[in-house]
Amino acid sequence: MYAAVVHALGQPPRYESVPEPVPASGEVVVEVLAAALYPLVRSFASGGHYTGGDALPLVPGFDGVGRTSAGELVYIPVLEPPHGTMAERVAVPAAALMPVPRGLDPVTVAAVMNPASSAWIALRERGRLREGESVLVLGATGNAGRAAIQLALDQGAGAVVAAGRDPQALRAAAALGAHRTVQLTGSDEEIAAAFGAAAADVDIVLDYLWDRPAELALDGILRHRADLTRTLRWVQVGSAAGPDMTVPSAWFRKADVSVCGSGLGSISGARRAAALRELLARLPALAPTTEVVTVPMSEIETAWDSPTSSGARLVFVPGGADERASAAREARKDRETV
Ligand SMILES: NC(=O)c1ccc[n+]([C@@H]2O[C@H](COP(=O)([O-])OP(=O)(O)OC[C@H]3O[C@@H](n4cnc5c(N)ncnc54)[C@H](OP(=O)(O)O)[C@@H]3O)[C@@H](O)[C@H]2O)c1
Repeated sequence: MYAAVVHALGQPPRYESVPEPVPASGEVVVEVLAAALYPLVRSFASGGHYTGGDALPLVPGFDGVGRTSAGELVYIPVLEPPHGTMAERVAVPAAALMPVPRGLDPVTVAAVMNPASSAWIALRERGRLREGESVLVLGATGNAGRAAIQLALDQGAGAVVAAGRDPQALRAAAALGAHRTVQLTGSDEEIAAAFGAAAADVDIVLDYLWDRPAELALDGILRHRADLTRTLRWVQVGSAAGPDMTVPSAWFRKADVSVCGSGLGSISGARRAAALRELLARLPALAPTTEVVTVPMSEIETAWDSPTSSGARLVFVPGGADERASAAREARKDRETV
């Protein structure tokens, strides 16, 4: 069979022939229909992810959608390197597979699950959003940020504030229903003041950025917060702006700020799996917030680093152009069975 194979960390994978997967006890072989490329996948393929792991060669792809030998459409939740989902077939523990609800097509599910799950888990498991609370999405213009706006509203947030850098993308994010926006341009003073004006009294921050934008957000919020003893739950989810943030210690003494992270190590595998099943069940009711570019796996080496339109997510389907057409047919067929 064929797979995408990374031979040097940080280099694009090559599409090449590899041995068929041999299932261990409890595992089944699944035919992969779609696997998305997103920051975590790139991070694993460059050896830079916080969970470690840099064995080579490796097949990238952390999750995806496949079909079992019984013909069932399934979500494959986690396949860590060196045996990722960017292969024609993968061996997966049978118990880990999650049925894809009818009406969802493989490519869309592969594209939305990572960004949507980042928000779902951060809101429900880590931030513990309660009906009517307000949420600041820091970094609302990316795939995860857009999903966070949608899911915060879906899960009962009373108000959502969207903060982002690109004005056009921020308008698009706001169109998902955000009540207020913060534009991350201008002087530090202006940005902090904008956070103070739009987000001073939020209950939860979903932080996809960290670094300077997070410093300015926390500064602006604390300077203008009406009641500093009202708990601010800061959920750290991503570091698109940079890996480090400087926080004066006094900020944690002058207000009730509770910081936690949401990532692979911050909840148990069982809880994460349960959350992913809940999210999958919710997906048919939600419009996709991710623009998808479908690419045959045979083109992965050139597609890996190629620029896509802003915000678009690459989803690889196995093989060449024939499979691209077949994936499109599959998507139509699955939609027609709703
Ligand atoms: N912990 C988890 O469970 C989890 C899951 C998924 C994602 N993540 C993390 O969340 C982050 C976003 O992921 P994604 O899937 O949304 O990625 P994405 O679709 O590639 O979007 C990245 C976003 O970050 C923004 N950005 C980059 N640098 C910025 C800066 N200096 N200031 C403001 N905005 C900046 C970009 O805005 P522009 O349009 O202005 O460039 C873009 O909107 C990544 O760090 C990712 O690793 C975490």
